Amino acid sequence: MMKNVIAGNWKSNKLMAEALRLMKEIESGLTSEISAEVIIAPPAPYLSAFASEAKGVLQIASQQCSATGSGAFTGEFTAAMLGSCGVKWVIIGHSERREGYGETDNVIRKKLRAALDSGLQVLLCCGEPLEVRESETHFDWVQNQLMHALSGLSNSALESIVIAYEPIWAIGTGKTASAGQAQEMHAFIRNWLSICFDRSTARGCRIIYGGSCKPSNADDLFAQPDVNGGLIGGASLNAADFIAIVTALENR
Ligand code: PGA
Repeated sequence: MMKNVIAGNWKSNKLMAEALRLMKEIESGLTSEISAEVIIAPPAPYLSAFASEAKGVLQIASQQCSATGSGAFTGEFTAAMLGSCGVKWVIIGHSERREGYGETDNVIRKKLRAALDSGLQVLLCCGEPLEVRESETHFDWVQNQLMHALSGLSNSALESIVIAYEPIWAIGTGKTASAGQAQEMHAFIRNWLSICFDRSTARGCRIIYGGSCKPSNADDLFAQPDVNGGLIGGASLNAADFIAIVTALENR
């Protein structure tokens, strides 16, 4: 059965000791009966320690990986290195990396393949800026991002990819997409996947929502049939809020 997915993206927040404390608080609030996959993505310097410290249901994600293999690439870390530290997931294509660090569709395509080749599972982000939403071209925008990233992959490769729809105007702004807006885009993505891959691959693909998801709106978002979980930024930095969001997903 398809498992829901919930991931906390901690971005560049928290020093090592507080980050570890937060992980322990989250862990102790989650029982082993949780059926969703629960993932946290701490800052990169802590990944190895987190991967060995994580117990129970928590899985560890990196917030990115390099597009290249090993070699003379100062400052980069490869997907294979992440795997060798016990990291299971990597976020690719987050809008903050697309916009702030020049990650083009081409770079994201390479990163995605590097991650899959190294056996990592991928949280692949897509989503439109405000002006695109206002010009009502957001479906084309998201389709284009996904086409660049996913074209040429096999149906089975898609099993290792979770798609995160994150409208940029909703990230860190407190302005959430309505449950209806999220459902509409998720259904569009699933339909597009069924055309590019096949119906059963599309049905089995987890599509999660990100952008100011919090305990007060999680129930509505997760009640939508095509919303299979969430990518949580700000609210994942507070154990009680993150646990409340995981619980909302469990109770959907
Ligand atoms: P937010 O961030 O929940 O703080 O809006 C989501 C994300 O950037 O993944």
